[in-house]
Amino acid sequence: ICRGLSSSAVRHVVIKHVTIIGGGQMGAGIAQVAASTGHAVTLVDTNEDILKKAVKGIEGNLKRVVKKKFADKPEAGEEFLQKAMQNVSISTDAGSVVQGTDLVVEAIVENLKVKQDLFGGLDKVAPAHTIFASNTSSLSITDIASSTNRLDRFGGLHFFNPVPVMRLVEVIATSSTSQETFDSLLNFSKMLGKTSVSCKDTPGFIVNRLLLPYILDAVRMYERGDGSKEDIDIAMKLGCGYPMGPFELSDYVGLDTMKFIMDGWSAANPDNPMFAQSEVLNKLVAEGKFGKKTGEGFYKYK
Ligand code: CAA
Ligand code: NAD
Repeated sequence: ICRGLSSSAVRHVVIKHVTIIGGGQMGAGIAQVAASTGHAVTLVDTNEDILKKAVKGIEGNLKRVVKKKFADKPEAGEEFLQKAMQNVSISTDAGSVVQGTDLVVEAIVENLKVKQDLFGGLDKVAPAHTIFASNTSSLSITDIASSTNRLDRFGGLHFFNPVPVMRLVEVIATSSTSQETFDSLLNFSKMLGKTSVSCKDTPGFIVNRLLLPYILDAVRMYERGDGSKEDIDIAMKLGCGYPMGPFELSDYVGLDTMKFIMDGWSAANPDNPMFAQSEVLNKLVAEGKFGKKTGEGFYKYK
């Protein structure tokens, strides 16, 4: 048994320290879940203020969890909170952090070149056993991994927003991902308390391949004037039992991220009307209206 591998029948790297790159809504959520399940976590972003905001958000969320889960055991609740927060550190220097990490989970902007540049650089400094994973919504894991020399230790870990609440993780293997890496990612997802599904490296994996065409179709329905956004949202919530309608959900995901996904897929499939450009989405993004995170998208917040 090699160093860092478990001795169970299924060989997997035991993840003790995880580096999460990108301190936005997804990175902060992944850090919260990893820290509260006993992992040492370093959250990395280029922007120090974002990191401070992320830590405050994690603490606020955990306090809410503690208040509910430990209502009749406040001391145990305080201990849980302290332990989880002690597991979180922050850094703006990814290169130095990855030198002591078992797993890198990337949750930065949805742009292939930026992700490739990040991983290409980290590949040169991370230890040999370190597994790299991307939380991309729509890009090919194979393409992202191509900037590294660790194709066997590279996979996808696709979380859902809000990470502390959504129970699924899609675990993605490319044709080069080793069985040991895949098992390590499955095991890590389990350690986080999530249910995982195995996905091939196909555009949008399972969820987004089904969700994005639905959302984009709703936007086109609105653009044609076939229904107001409010009515479409009410219809899908009350008619299908969805927790959010497609416009509320787009604002929640982030219209910038939605546009990155649409742009990538429409460039790759120029003749497929399913992924055609949306004027309304393009306009909102051009105006800096990215949804909930900027205070306005399809709807206004606060
Ligand atoms: N962080 C942590 N916890 C949160 C949270 C957040 N951001 N938002 C809500 N919660 C918790 C609340 O504390 C509450 O916990 P308790 O039940 O323990 O009290 C629970 O979630 C329910 O929250 P609320 O009562 O405030 O609100 P709600 O019932 O309206 O639920 C929601 C909020 C969970 C976000 C729900 O509206 C929902 O499920 N929406 C759909 C989300 C979805 O579809 N996500 C997938 C997006 S696609 C994606 O992620 C993939 C991609 O690549 C783009
Ligand atoms: P976000 O805009 O909230 O956060 C992205 C963060 O990455 C920002 O804080 C930014 O400062 C940081 N960043 C950008 N380039 C960086 C770099 N080179 N190094 C370090 N940090 C960098 O975005 P998000 O919604 O958290 O999405 C992040 C990723 O997760 C994207 O790939 C997105 O497609 C994917 N994703 C998003 C959702 C969602 O619902 N929003 C769900 C699943 C997956």
